[in-house]
Amino acid sequence: MKTLAEYQQLVEAEIKKQFFDKKTQPKELFEPIEYILEEGGKRLRPALCVLACHLFSEQIAQAVKPAVALETFHNFTLLHDDIMDKADMRRGRATVHKKWNENTAILSGDAMVILAYQLLEEIDSKYLSQVLKIFNQTSLDVCIGQQYDMNFELRPLGTQTEAVSESEYLYMISKKTSVLIAASLQIGAILGGAKASDAQNLYDFGENLGIAFQLQDDLLDVYGNEAEFGKKIGGDILANKKTFLLIKAYELLHSKEQLNEIIYFLPQSEKEKQYKILKVTEIYNSLEIKELTEQKILFFYHKALQALDTIEIEEFKKKILKDFAMNLLNRKK
Ligand code: IPE
Ligand code: IPE
Ligand code: MG
Ligand code: MG
Ligand code: MG
Repeated sequence: MKTLAEYQQLVEAEIKKQFFDKKTQPKELFEPIEYILEEGGKRLRPALCVLACHLFSEQIAQAVKPAVALETFHNFTLLHDDIMDKADMRRGRATVHKKWNENTAILSGDAMVILAYQLLEEIDSKYLSQVLKIFNQTSLDVCIGQQYDMNFELRPLGTQTEAVSESEYLYMISKKTSVLIAASLQIGAILGGAKASDAQNLYDFGENLGIAFQLQDDLLDVYGNEAEFGKKIGGDILANKKTFLLIKAYELLHSKEQLNEIIYFLPQSEKEKQYKILKVTEIYNSLEIKELTEQKILFFYHKALQALDTIEIEEFKKKILKDFAMNLLNRKK
């Protein structure tokens, strides 16, 4: 086995080869693709894909292009997500639709999906249809999750029937975030020749890890450090995202008026935006929402570890996955 940094290097080298050395025209289409794929991302999904392959086989070179396909797809979702979330900043710099414009982010994003498929073309024919099936279902799931995420923005905190429940939230994040992490592991395992049950258990590990990962992302969106996290703090609050934090706060508040008022307040100026972020954060602090979210993250971390138990690989390999998961949950970016 290799270190995480070594898997990331393999991926980084392939990204360079595929995207940075070619200088394909027109530059208006391809420069934003290079920009979003430049260093800065954690390369979580491709690293997991190559690592999963390595759990079952020494032939890891075959997993590198599919891994880059997964990273390319992930970065495509970010281009479109940042338009949908009206986010100005990612990885510490301007988002593509801010640096260029929305049409550019849409079309370069579209091209990235096709490029991702091209990177899958060379998969060994004995695995190709299986991998495509997972990739296609995953891509559709991400769209489903993203649509729920937007639907939920418009749902009021309001009454029992109108409010987004914790289980609806968990379903939404499992689609928008977990499935791609899970599929990265499953695809890597399949390419490594794993048997179906092991590949499925790795998928389940990834699904629970992905839920913990998105909960952590929601937490960092409020409590992170902007310079480290690379995204604007409070973006979810301004977009009225129904995050775990907001759902729990509403459940726990005795006087719900206070939160209703601030959530329905539509800030216009930068000063009003900062005020809204501050007020919602104060409510979270008073209800210890940070600690509650951390408990939930640990719950899904442990659920993820349970899925590892039954996989037929050596203990030291399980330990690598376990450490990987723990590091991820202690991340600042
Ligand atoms: C961001 O994913 C989108 C979410 C699912 C939270 P990452 O946090 O993996 O983003 P990068 O690629 O490392 O920047
Ligand atoms: C990420 O959700 C889901 C996808 C990009 C598919 P977020 O909207 O929370 O991701 P960030 O915080 O913008 O990275
Ligand atoms: Mg989003
Ligand atoms: Mg977003
Ligand atoms: Mg987020």
